[in-house]
Amino acid sequence: MIRTRIIGTGSYVPPDILTNDNLSEMVDTSDEWIRTRTGICNRHIAKDMDNADMAYNAARNAVEDARIEASKIGLIIVATSTPDYAFPNQASLVQAKLKAVNAMCFDVSAACSGFITALDIAASMLKAGSYKYALVIGSEKMSEIVNWKDRSVCVLFGDGAGAVVLKAVDNNTEDVTGALVGHERGIIDSNIYNDGTGASVLTGGRRFSDSCSTDIFIHMDGQEVFKFAVKSVPTAIETLLHNNNMDINEVDKFILHQANVRIIESVAKRLKADKDKFPVNLNEYGNTSSASIPILLDELNRNGSLKQGEKLVLAGFGAGLSWGSILLVW
Ligand code: ACO
Repeated sequence: MIRTRIIGTGSYVPPDILTNDNLSEMVDTSDEWIRTRTGICNRHIAKDMDNADMAYNAARNAVEDARIEASKIGLIIVATSTPDYAFPNQASLVQAKLKAVNAMCFDVSAACSGFITALDIAASMLKAGSYKYALVIGSEKMSEIVNWKDRSVCVLFGDGAGAVVLKAVDNNTEDVTGALVGHERGIIDSNIYNDGTGASVLTGGRRFSDSCSTDIFIHMDGQEVFKFAVKSVPTAIETLLHNNNMDINEVDKFILHQANVRIIESVAKRLKADKDKFPVNLNEYGNTSSASIPILLDELNRNGSLKQGEKLVLAGFGAGLSWGSILLVW
């Protein structure tokens, strides 16, 4: 049976840091308010680089980690809501920089659920036998669409990119090193949902049909997003585990979209899961939208926190409204 396995991870965040104290000089806010309401302390801002530069840096790190030639990659998907252009897509820009000359390229727009959506699509395409290797990237330059005068939004977001390399592996015959294996590692199952009737709760970017519009900013009903996240994410995870005859205690780590530490704690509580199984790095990066899950995954991979055979649940939520989860064995 063909499984798709993550064989490399990478990430990139720009070096410029904007602290809560910096923000309190720009708008009427405070370090105390931001920390207690969100858990965020810093966010990184891309001053002199495009989304594609960050995406490429993350991708290059992931390809190096996977130890493959870029020319072997058959598919590049970039999840982003802040592309450099309407077209060409971000994936094409990354392809050129990476010299991944054999890759088919497209972008996915699903806001903070973008990475899990792109991963799910890539896994399905690999499983269907279309390609052997895929590169999936989440990359965002949120600072472009943040209104730096709106304190209810500007404290939340940051820039960055994360990436994974996926390989289609026949579990009955070979693992990534070519050795014979008989057990299941890789992506096991997923469930991705959408409710377009909630679209107005969270919007960002310019309305193309309104050529005079100068409003390119994020507009958000924060409390509605909060309520939606803490209800929908636990339900998605419970359904995913139920469908795979798994108990919540069998999951080793829950890698959630990093929007707000209170959302993550609330999800853990609703699931009756151990809070320590929910790694958090939003204190340093803020909400990097589609990049948050792959950045966290890369950090955990590189600091040795992910052990072979561990069961991971990735879960995202955001504009659309969109949400969902993915179960994988590391
Ligand atoms: N500093 C100080 N005060 C503030 C700030 C700020 N940065 N922002 C808002 N306030 C004020 C408000 O004006 C309000 O004042 P009032 O009581 O005088 O009217 C008060 O603080 C409380 O505001 P609330 O909006 O009720 O604050 P809440 O506790 O709900 O926290 C927050 C707001 C952090 C945005 C929270 O609702 C949240 O995290 N929601 C989820 C947001 C999210 O995750 N968005 C990203 C989704 S992912 C994607 O797809 C992009």
